[in-house]
This record gives sequence, C-alpha cells and structure tokens, in this order.
Amino acid sequence: MNLVNPILWSVHVGFAVLWTGSVLFVALAVLPPALRGDVGGDALGSIVGRLRWVTRIAALAFLASGGHMAGTLYTFESLAGTGRGHLVLTMIALWFLITGLVEVGSGKLADGLDAGKLREPARDAKPFLYGAAGLSVALVVTAGLLATPGLA
Ligand code: HEM
Repeated sequence: MNLVNPILWSVHVGFAVLWTGSVLFVALAVLPPALRGDVGGDALGSIVGRLRWVTRIAALAFLASGGHMAGTLYTFESLAGTGRGHLVLTMIALWFLITGLVEVGSGKLADGLDAGKLREPARDAKPFLYGAAGLSVALVVTAGLLATPGLA
C-alpha cells in the first residue's frame, strides 16, 4: 500500500483544523479580553507568538501537501477550467490572504507588547485578526464544498 497519499492528506487536513481553529480561537476568545485589558501582557505575547509559529509551520505543510495533492489530482487546465479547480484556487487565495492578515495583526500586537502596551496594540490588531477569522470561515466552507461527494 502506498502511504504517501494518506500521510499527506492527513497532514493537510490536520493543519487545516489546527490552523483555522487557532485563528478563530485567538479572534473569538483571546482578543476580546485583551481589548478590555483583562489578559496579562506576557500571556498574550506567548499566545500570539504561538499563533505566528503555527501559521508559518502550517504554510510549509500546506504548500508541500497541497502542492502534492494538486499535482496528483489536477492539470493546469483542470485547475483553471473546472468547478473543483476553482475551489482549489479559492482555497489557495484565502490561505494567502489569511496568512498575510495574521502576520500583520500579530506583528502589531507583538511590537506593542514589546513597548509595554496592551490595549492599544490589541485595538490595532483587531481589524486584521477579525478579518483573518472571517476569511477562515470562508476557507472552511470552501474545503467543505470540496469534500462534499459529487458536488463539484
Ligand atoms: C498552499 C495552500 C493549499 C493548497 C495548494 C491546497 C490544495 C488542496 C488540494 C489540491 C486539495 C484536494 C482537492 C480535491 O480533493 O479535489 C485540497 C483539499 C483540502 N484542503 Fe487544501 N490546499 C491549501 C490550503 C488549505 C488550507 C489553508 C486549508 C484549511 C482549511 C485546506 C483544507 C483542505 C481540506 C479540508 C481538504 C480536503 C478536501 C477533500 O479532498 O476531501 N487547504 N487542498
């Protein structure tokens, strides 16, 4: 039995769950108390640092596993010319946008925390992290459409 495909599919779906879950958790559960000043600066810095590392390691995992999956299942023509291909391209575009928003938002938070501030950097990061959370929902829907048997 060839183990490459099951391993890469598992890596892909595993990082999909870990990463989108992390982005949503930080936006929904960590940022609101940070905006009120109810989270310690050290704890917030550690959480944001983890989110950045998860985002970066996940990027490598998505590029390697998704690149292999796309190479196995698609040609340039089927990526550009079929419904499933368009969903995969949407998935890549959303991943790219969310990664950028998380990098900018978490960078603003980390810089502000380094300067000894808390609520102001949380406010600065808010639109980026909320934007990343909203697009993560769109990404989960995109993956759900791809995984629905016979839909596209
Ligand atoms: C570089 C970025 C990415 C590439 C190149 C990529 C590529 C792909 C490809 C080619 C497939 C197989 C599609 C098919 O079965 O026809 C797939 C499936 C999937 N992708 Fe991605 N992907 C990327 C990022 C993501 C991200 C960020 C998520 C997070 C939600 C994600 C979640 C999934 C899921 C859950 C599936 C399983 C769908 C299924 O086959 O049942 N992917 N991806």
